[in-house]
Amino acid sequence: MSFRWSRRGILQAGAAAGLGILGGKRALAAPAVHVRRFQGNRPLVISSGNGLAACARAMEMLQAGEDTLDAVIAGVNIVEEDPDDMSVGYGGLPNEAGVVQLDSSVMHGPSRNGGAVAAIEGIKTPSKVAKLVMDRTDHVLIVGQGAQDFAEAHGFQVENLLTDRARERWLRWKETMSDRDDWLPAPQTGGRGGRGGLDPTADLDAADEFDAFFRYHGTINCNCVDAAGDISGVTTTSGLSWKIPGRVGDSPILGAGLYVDNDVGAAGSTGRGEANLLDCCSFLTVEFMRQGMHPKDACLEVMRRVAAKTVDPRLLRKDGTPNFSLNFYALNKAGEYGGANFRPSRFVVNEGGESRYEDSAYLWERDQ
Ligand code: GLY
Repeated sequence: MSFRWSRRGILQAGAAAGLGILGGKRALAAPAVHVRRFQGNRPLVISSGNGLAACARAMEMLQAGEDTLDAVIAGVNIVEEDPDDMSVGYGGLPNEAGVVQLDSSVMHGPSRNGGAVAAIEGIKTPSKVAKLVMDRTDHVLIVGQGAQDFAEAHGFQVENLLTDRARERWLRWKETMSDRDDWLPAPQTGGRGGRGGLDPTADLDAADEFDAFFRYHGTINCNCVDAAGDISGVTTTSGLSWKIPGRVGDSPILGAGLYVDNDVGAAGSTGRGEANLLDCCSFLTVEFMRQGMHPKDACLEVMRRVAAKTVDPRLLRKDGTPNFSLNFYALNKAGEYGGANFRPSRFVVNEGGESRYEDSAYLWERDQ
């Protein structure tokens, strides 16, 4: 469905809302007056680059008239439940103790509500638990053992999420991290490689998500707007591989890993969560869109903000640009969308039918 939103229409709606006469009901003052002509397609689903199947599933559900949040959660459940995907849910890479700890958040635009879980263990689909936090508690975020107990109370099975494949990667990392401990790598890997001497995740398909010490921030973010203009989003992850137990990233923090405002749009993130957490960047992206920016420009402006705030030499290349990866994905109520990273990357779009990749906007070339 194609949707046009004219400047005149928005100005009129803003004036009507400001006078409190919109829809015959008393309305709050309009939050912003956009000055740009919007043009996009609805329904629309977008996601991080690992969401081809997720976007397709979510689109099918939107076309069947299902709720926006149910649609994106069903989409990311495909990745969460896939034991071969080592970035999210079951099969995710573990923390430094070899335990898989998951983070997730959801936001439902029409009800202006959200929920999240952090550092939850033993539950394959943390996004579903995040929705239960939203629907069945007076809280927004539940963490650790409390989150697992809450999930069990709602009938979720506690299972071992560490697949053999993920355990072997973790063991390779542990055995090659230092030449001054008692963990020896298998002889065929060439003896002690030292930290960074052997890539323990060499066959992971996440080239744009690695940092200097071969650690991975694997995550899926998926956002949608339906034909009526209702918006929802979800972010779910196993977080940073080999992290300190209890580390919580940006994914379960509303405003950082995900933010939805049903009047404006949705934004979410993958990549180095610490950089996102310091500036609440999904909230910032939505606020830029509220001011009238196109989603792509909003994402790119956020990348500029993070780059300017990255001053620790540990996180910089020789040329002074960030040495890590961070992605933002955003859509607005009109069905426009965009993504951005520091360097070339891609994301997934579905406007009905098959999902496709699109290039993200970026600040620097890959070799820069
Ligand atoms: N963005 C995922 C994480 O940092 O945990």
